Amino acid sequence: MRHVISVHDLSTEEIIDVLDRAEGMLDVARGEAVEDRLKGKILASIFFEPSTRTRLSFETAMNRLGGGVIGFAGTEATSVVKGETLADTIRMVSGYADAVVLRHPQEGAAKLAIEFSDVPIINAGDGAGQHPTQTLLDLFTIRREMGRLEGLNISLIGDLRFGRTTHSLAPALARFGNTINLVSPKGLEMPNGVVGYLENAGMLGSVSHSLEDIVPQTDVLYVTRIQKERFPDPVEYEKVAGVYRVDAELVSRGPEKMIIMHPLPRVNEIAPEVDALPQAKYFTQAFNGVPVRMALLSMLIGGS
Ligand code: NCD
Repeated sequence: MRHVISVHDLSTEEIIDVLDRAEGMLDVARGEAVEDRLKGKILASIFFEPSTRTRLSFETAMNRLGGGVIGFAGTEATSVVKGETLADTIRMVSGYADAVVLRHPQEGAAKLAIEFSDVPIINAGDGAGQHPTQTLLDLFTIRREMGRLEGLNISLIGDLRFGRTTHSLAPALARFGNTINLVSPKGLEMPNGVVGYLENAGMLGSVSHSLEDIVPQTDVLYVTRIQKERFPDPVEYEKVAGVYRVDAELVSRGPEKMIIMHPLPRVNEIAPEVDALPQAKYFTQAFNGVPVRMALLSMLIGGS
């Protein structure tokens, strides 16, 4: 039984395998072909924190492959409000389903869930920890849009302290041999553990606070939202909200083939005028969550 808690749970070969499988599932993801390889399987989708893309693309992936989904989005209607522990919820749900997708505000929640589960646990975001399936779809998007997954200059912008998508993505990109530049406001720098990983891999590029300086040497501009909900003090959030804004003028200063990604939701870090530019790939990226999660679910519970 395999769990996917961190990007480090997947070998480089397995990651490539998921991306290749996802490539072959694009027509099913778009609804242009029909598949039922997960017929009779049930996915439990339990989300203790808000989500739009992650939850819905997991559910679409399962449905497109002929499987079923149970679960909840928000705990208001569950026994969690009666004081049920995560451990008990997982014990039970793992008896109802063939895999569990879990999102939880606490870092380490998915890792803890393993101890109480009889079926694979997939981490769909644990606080400021990890978001490994987002990384898979990010890698898939980069490979499709850039034609390769190595030797790129990739700049991660925004809340690198609390932004779990970057905590998973940066080490994975380093494993594939890409240089990672880190740009964040003061106080929202990438955690030391991740920076150390990039350094050891010899893949740490520049570390700065300036978005303007990094754009001209960037192949992939990966923009993230300031994670308002993780700030203990709202005043601290207000100080950094809106410090970075990617607009058409900024994009024009980058290489012509640069792409712009964002795990979404965006607040105001990318101006709407950018959406129409050929560099904007964030909505394609969001769609890619479907074939990639189809591929991952097939690998984990599809019996092949
Ligand atoms: C991200 C998340 O939840 O970490 N969203 C997502 O899954 N696409 C990013 C965010 O909330 O800013």
